[in-house]
Amino acid sequence: MNRKDTTYLTATPADIATAADLLRAGELVAFPTETVYGLGGDACNDDAVAAIYTAKGRPSFNPLIAHVADTAAAKRHVVWTDEADRLAQAFWPGPLTLVLPLKPDHGIYSLVTAGLDTLAVRVPAHETARTLLAEFDGPVAAPSANPSGRISPTTAQHVHAGLDGRIAAVVDDGPCGVGLESTIIGLAGSPAFLRPGGLSAELIEACLGRRPDSFKQGDALSAPGQLMSHYAPDSTVRLNVEYPFGDEVLLGFGNVACDLNLSASGDLTEAAANLFSALHMLDTTGRPIAVSPIPEKGLGLAINDRLRRAAAPRGLDQA
Ligand code: TXA
Ligand code: MG
Repeated sequence: MNRKDTTYLTATPADIATAADLLRAGELVAFPTETVYGLGGDACNDDAVAAIYTAKGRPSFNPLIAHVADTAAAKRHVVWTDEADRLAQAFWPGPLTLVLPLKPDHGIYSLVTAGLDTLAVRVPAHETARTLLAEFDGPVAAPSANPSGRISPTTAQHVHAGLDGRIAAVVDDGPCGVGLESTIIGLAGSPAFLRPGGLSAELIEACLGRRPDSFKQGDALSAPGQLMSHYAPDSTVRLNVEYPFGDEVLLGFGNVACDLNLSASGDLTEAAANLFSALHMLDTTGRPIAVSPIPEKGLGLAINDRLRRAAAPRGLDQA
């Protein structure tokens, strides 16, 4: 990954306008929310979303939260429900994320949801975040702005320590008020706690008049995005293939003769950006899919993880 000169911005209107321009240009901008600093990228721009995973060194494609300026903006992307309405009226803007089914013309890039048919949406309460989102006027995908496996950042200095030189800019507006990531409630079926966070379970229960199904400690974060079947195309998938045989279509990587190439130049970020759409496309051929070897490093780990899920025997709903 090329080193970037990370610009340090403040919360002045001029600097927030600069941050919005950078997001529009497909760059990554870390910004404060009331929970933790988020690492923001345009949720409709495939290169920006792929770059989030690269900057974090994230080994797997966990689905990301789309941050929007208000409830009306959220409704553009997801199927709204009565329960969503109640929770949003009570707690948005605030440290609550709702997981809802995607609308048909949602516009969100598939890597944001890691190929799921649901989207996590949140309206943050932080004034600077809200101004930035209103100015950008679109959904911003933002995981916590820390390298993968590290503690979430609650100051711009934390962001600096982890991501300086990897992202275009950081908007510094002091420490985050909540300091804990948002509570995540799944509303695609009956209400479910997917992650405990900055909004208490009691307040949510009081609002809904019922207790959401409990998460299981340990598997709550990863389970929704990790089901084997979510990544399985109809066609069979064979990995680490140098020479396809029979009827196979070859999904290539690097300088190889193939039917479709994830990245002819062997760029893993580009390959990650192309992965889900490439699998969808090859799946429509109805032919078995063979895939070139992909290096087990950087985003290659995540690509291979998803490819292994795609290649796994069907009906294995396991992490
Ligand atoms: O407070 C927060 O939520 C912070 C700030 C920046 O907003 N963001 C944050 O993002 O914590 P992240 O990427 O570290 O955690 C998001 C989690 C994922 O680990 C995933 O489990 C869950 O949200 N998630 C996202 N989309 C989902 C979906 N469609 N279904 C289920 N879970 C989802
Ligand atoms: Mg995180």
